[in-house]
Amino acid sequence: MDSQIDQLRVEALQQIAQATDEAGLDAIRVQFLGRSGSISLLSEGMKSLPKEDKPRFGKLLNDARTAVTSALDEARTELQARADRAAFSGVDVTLPGIARAQGALHPITQLQDRAVQIFRRMGFALADGPDIETEFHCFDALNTPADHPARNEQDTFYFQDGRLLRTHTSSVQIRTMESAVPPIRIIAPGAAYRRDEIDATHLAQFTQMEGLYVDSNVSVADLKGTLEFFFRELLGSDAQFRFRPHFFPFTEPSYEVDIRTRALGNADRWLEIAGCGMVDPAVFEAVNGRRGDRAFDPEKVTGFAFGFGLDRLAMILSGVPDIRLFTDNDQRFLRQF
Ligand code: PHE
Repeated sequence: MDSQIDQLRVEALQQIAQATDEAGLDAIRVQFLGRSGSISLLSEGMKSLPKEDKPRFGKLLNDARTAVTSALDEARTELQARADRAAFSGVDVTLPGIARAQGALHPITQLQDRAVQIFRRMGFALADGPDIETEFHCFDALNTPADHPARNEQDTFYFQDGRLLRTHTSSVQIRTMESAVPPIRIIAPGAAYRRDEIDATHLAQFTQMEGLYVDSNVSVADLKGTLEFFFRELLGSDAQFRFRPHFFPFTEPSYEVDIRTRALGNADRWLEIAGCGMVDPAVFEAVNGRRGDRAFDPEKVTGFAFGFGLDRLAMILSGVPDIRLFTDNDQRFLRQF
């Protein structure tokens, strides 16, 4: 029986040396060490041996089992190493890599994100609407009559079908009130378009941020408090404000907001920064008409709205002298942010 063990051991080691893949190694393990493998069967035979032979024979069996097991493990490790080397062949891992330039958010996007964060803290949710708008959402529902200059073909991009590129984000006020009921507290950042002569301070596409708050008992004090808090958070607590009476068709009363602050570099002169006002009852009625209900009954709800441009703010905050730099896509400019 001793020689039988030796023979099995030699046989197993030979087969292991010749195995070319891991599946082959598995088969060898089963053949010799498996439940009915040849080495296992030999240990069954041990029962019939004389008592004095058992320890020695047991040790031989154990040694054989250990030798085959470790040969299998070694062979497996070697096969895996060989596969790894093959995968890397032809690749010089010591060559320097190709550096990927890391992008950053556009300066206007950065400013917009900061603005959104501040309004979120006051409970405003984000709202959205299409850039290609109907005249109803951009003008009619906003109490802007057909003869208003904003509707002039010279000032606005119209499509053949009568739709247009929205001239302001105020259209999102209407879209929001069409689908939600008070209380409403939203901000809507987005693109607006005007047929402007392009120069250092004008683009045909710019970025606005609209706000709308509708509830019972919303007052001008809420409007002032909200905007002053927002701009102080954004521009510094030294900011001073002037709410100058103005006219917008869709708010009554209406104001333009002027600001003086160190951050804008104008601590000694006023800078016009936003338009705002209390939502005109005519706007509520236009929405009610569309909805077919009285969800925005001007006898029961009031609201304020505001809008401001982000491009000019970004220009002043970052000291950018020409608005066209924002859209030129010049890496040398964008890299600075
Ligand atoms: N939509 C106005 C503009 O583009 C700004 C505005 C928004 C004014 C909301 C009042 C209320 O100039």
